Amino acid sequence: MSKIRVFSGTRATGRLHLGNYFGAVKGYIDLQNDPNYECVYMAVDVHTITTPYDHHGLASATKEIIMDYLAAGLDPAKAIITIQSLVPEHVELAFLFSSIISVAKMQHLPTFKDKVKQHPDHVTLALLNYPTLMAADILAYKASVVPAGLDQEPHIEVTREIARRMNDLYGTDFPETKRIATPTQYVPSLTGEGKMSKSVEGSSINLTDDLSVIKKRLASCPTDSGKGDEVPKTGGVANLLNFVEIFQGIERKKAYENDYLNQGLRYGDLKAELAQAIFDYLAPIREKRLELEQNPEYVDQIIREGAEKARTIAAATLAETKRKMGFYGKN
Ligand code: TYM
Repeated sequence: MSKIRVFSGTRATGRLHLGNYFGAVKGYIDLQNDPNYECVYMAVDVHTITTPYDHHGLASATKEIIMDYLAAGLDPAKAIITIQSLVPEHVELAFLFSSIISVAKMQHLPTFKDKVKQHPDHVTLALLNYPTLMAADILAYKASVVPAGLDQEPHIEVTREIARRMNDLYGTDFPETKRIATPTQYVPSLTGEGKMSKSVEGSSINLTDDLSVIKKRLASCPTDSGKGDEVPKTGGVANLLNFVEIFQGIERKKAYENDYLNQGLRYGDLKAELAQAIFDYLAPIREKRLELEQNPEYVDQIIREGAEKARTIAAATLAETKRKMGFYGKN
């Protein structure tokens, strides 16, 4: 039986944070380790240019993602690991897809509206086309499974719509892709509002942060008096307890909840213990990352070899799509 294809990616905006790791990368690792799946994981640098970015730092920010992927446990012997712009077939396929999806549909996506709010002076065609490029990433491999966080659901829905329309109009055989969620598909921000995100200052902890940075981030997480009749279900306190559950287990969380309802919860102690638990949890990732930093050529080789393998698959899909769409060429 042929393997089920998997695709996922992370924008090239620097190092991975806990949201990326728990919302997506842990899912990538589970699937790469399952022999029923054939996985393609990329640093998606072309997506990065859809919002303002530093062109001097793009290449290194892209490589950082690959290094963090490898440090977190992605394995080039089990998955194709590379960089999106090295597989130019994605961009060409995205242009073809853009011919069957309306501008109005793209403008109505919540993710587009959010970005327009964030960057009102940078509402470009590339931004509008973001989901089309994402559909091309996924469908270039005919991937039926995408491990990704909850925030990516609207884009995966567009991917399904594009696949259906292409299949109806041109007789292609693109699958209806499904998102696979990790148990922690939504990691909240440390600011107490919204999701953990690279673009919100102070909202995230990176996989390679040292103890002092982790402590600083947790210190700025908003709390309350530490006592009440009901444990908060949203906001900073709820988020801290959520992290306690992830890194220290459900029993520790229950004990803190009990303190909150009775003698009172001391956030200073909670944050110190939690910072240490996060730091210890991330130790193997930090160590692997340091090893990789000693060997940049090895990382470049993985990227090159991954691109070659990815291109073989993506070029075949592109050629087939163009043929079915009626372009001149070999039949
Ligand atoms: P990006 O770069 O924002 O994030 C990469 C992955 O991390 C997940 N994630 C989170 N999950 C839970 N809680 C959070 N706070 C959190 N923050 C980030 C994201 O859901 C994502 O899975 N559009 C994508 C990149 C992309 C892509 C693709 C993904 C391009 N092409 C094809 C999947 C398939 C993005 O901006 O992810």
